[in-house]
Amino acid sequence: MQSITLGEFIIENQQHFKYSTGELSSILSSIRLASKIVHHEINKAGLAKHILGAVGTENIQGEEQQKLDLYANDVFIKALKNRGIICGIASEEDDDFIAFDGDSMKGNYIVAMDPLDGSSNIDVNVSVGTIFSIYRRISPAGTPVTLEDFLQPGTEQVAAGYVLYGSSTMLIYTTGNGTNGFTYDSSLGVFYLSHPDMKTSKDGKIFSMNEGNYNRTSQGLRDYIDYTKEVDDFSNRPYTARYIGSLVADFHRNLLKGGVYVYPSTDNAPKGKLRLLYECNPLAFVIEQAGGKATDGKNRIMELKPTELHQRVPYVIGSSNMVDKVHSFMNK
Ligand code: AHG
Ligand code: MN
Ligand code: MN
Repeated sequence: MQSITLGEFIIENQQHFKYSTGELSSILSSIRLASKIVHHEINKAGLAKHILGAVGTENIQGEEQQKLDLYANDVFIKALKNRGIICGIASEEDDDFIAFDGDSMKGNYIVAMDPLDGSSNIDVNVSVGTIFSIYRRISPAGTPVTLEDFLQPGTEQVAAGYVLYGSSTMLIYTTGNGTNGFTYDSSLGVFYLSHPDMKTSKDGKIFSMNEGNYNRTSQGLRDYIDYTKEVDDFSNRPYTARYIGSLVADFHRNLLKGGVYVYPSTDNAPKGKLRLLYECNPLAFVIEQAGGKATDGKNRIMELKPTELHQRVPYVIGSSNMVDKVHSFMNK
C-alpha cells in the first residue's frame, strides 16, 4: 500500500498554517492539478512536434520563448485563477503582473512563478520544472492587486516549491514547516509522499556552475573554482562537477546529495541570470527549510527587498558549509 497522498497531506497540515482558512490548501491543489496537466504534455514532447521548439518570440528579459513555456504558463494561470483565491500572478513569461478582476479581487494571495524552468532542455529530453512562490497580499482584499504586493521580500512567502518533470515527476514544497517531497504515480494520477521532512547535508561534494563563465567571473570565485579541483583527501576534494542547465534539476540533485549551486555575477550580466521572484526566493525557502542556505554571494536571498518584478540576482544555494566556503573566497 502506498503512503499518504499530496491531497491528504495538504489537508492534514492546514492546521500548522497561521491562516487556516483552507485557501492556501486550495491554491496548492490548483498547483497540483496544473502540474499533472503539464507532466502529461511534457511526456509527449518527443512525439508531438507541435509542442517542440521555439515560438519565435522573446519574453521581456530577451529570452527566446519555447512553445512549452507558453503552454505551461497558460495551464498554471488558468488553474490558479479558477478558484478565485488568487488576486494576481507574476510570471517570468509575462511582461507585467496579471491582476484578476471580479470575485478573484477578493482573494488574499498572489503567486509568482517560473512556469517552465530549463525550457531550452525540452527538445533534448532533459528534466525541466515549474517553480512557484505564494504570498499574502498587502493591499486590501477587494481592490485590484498592486505591484507592491509582488515586491515583498522572500521572508514573507507563505509557501513555495517546485515541480520537477524528470525520470519521475515530483512536487516538493514548504509552508515554513519543513520541506516535503511527493512523487507522481502517473498510472493513478496521484502524488504520494515519498520524501518526508527532507534535510540536506551540511557538507557535500557536488559543485554546480556553468564554468563556461569562468573568465567572466570575479577573481574570488575563480579561486574557489580552482579550489574545487584541487586534490586533497582530507577535505574530500576534488569535488564532483555537475551542471545540467535546468536550475530545478541541479537544485534537486544537490538537495538530495549535498552540494552547492552558483550562478554568479559576470562581466556581461552583472546581476547574474536568475530571477529573484520566480527562481531564487522560492528555492531559498525550500533549502532553508531543509537546513541549507541561499545567498547572493553575501546576503541572505530571502531578506532582499525586490525593486522590480523581473529582477535578477547572483545566486549561491545549497549545503550550508559549502555556501560559507564559497563566501570565504568571494568576499576575501
Ligand atoms: P528558464 O528556462 O526559466 O529561462 O531558466 C533557465 C535558467 C536555469 O534553469 C538554468 O540554471 C540557467 O538558466 C542556465 O543558464 P546557462 O545556460 O547560462 O548556464
Ligand atoms: Mn528558470
Ligand atoms: Mn522559465
